[in-house]
Amino acid sequence: MPSTVRTAVLPVAGFGTRWLPITKAVPKELLPILDRPCIEYAVVEAVAAGIERIVLVTTHGKEALADYFDTNPELERHLEEQGKTDLLAMVRGITGLVDVVTVRQREARGLGLAVLSAQSAVGDEPFAVLLADDLIDSEVPAIGQLGAATPPDMAAVALMEVPIERVSQYGICSGRWTAEGHMLVDQMTEKPEPAQARSRHAIVGRYILPPDIFTILERTPRGRNDEVQLTDALAVLAGQGRVMGICFEGHRFDAGSLPGWLEANLHFARRRPELAALLAGQEDPG
Ligand code: G1P
Repeated sequence: MPSTVRTAVLPVAGFGTRWLPITKAVPKELLPILDRPCIEYAVVEAVAAGIERIVLVTTHGKEALADYFDTNPELERHLEEQGKTDLLAMVRGITGLVDVVTVRQREARGLGLAVLSAQSAVGDEPFAVLLADDLIDSEVPAIGQLGAATPPDMAAVALMEVPIERVSQYGICSGRWTAEGHMLVDQMTEKPEPAQARSRHAIVGRYILPPDIFTILERTPRGRNDEVQLTDALAVLAGQGRVMGICFEGHRFDAGSLPGWLEANLHFARRRPELAALLAGQEDPG
């Protein structure tokens, strides 16, 4: 990751309708993948790539997310008094991960407006965006892979090939391949119908963005689903030859869907000997 990319924006203001009724009371980003909330995987990925500051773009009803990364003096005192030093270290470890600030989303009208809401918190420098629903397990943090491959003043998106019947669920990119195996993107369309899709290369929720994306977003009209789409703003940069598509190395899960969430849980459970044995039916859950 270039040292100029210090801030990561995590949009977390969505209603989480796919997870109703749980999301009436619990932000979907706090649903656990094993024993850690889904959002923590994205934060840990960003920190591992050198990010120093997280901006959560939030809304009312999502206060629990800021609480999760904040200190809880009462709980810490309780654990201290009880001599539960391991648990104390664990809760302090989460607070100490990284600086987390929150901003409120202006209007719930798409990813573009969510990113635009972070403008004053980000300032005039390149930044990363991570969508926590896209959980990526990789040796080198996926956002770091993008950062390392993004020339100054350019944007980058993570790309993955999807079956043609799925293109209408993603932003789709087309362009030409560079000698390094990246795509110099020239066209981007948010959720096209299969017949209109120019490729099967879909955007996964990892972006490196230059600061002038904010000016473009301010002028971007509502697009797909009557929302301001980040893909439409990026298409302007693509027209200037300033968007790289990076086919990242790693395993991506759509943790925002029940099958993807279950798959992610099973994937990480297989790494833990006690859970792997349980899954293999060799151990009594006790
Ligand atoms: C968003 C983006 C889309 C991208 C997707 C990746 O869509 O708008 O371009 O492909 O994330 O997960 P959403 O899934 O939020 O509708």
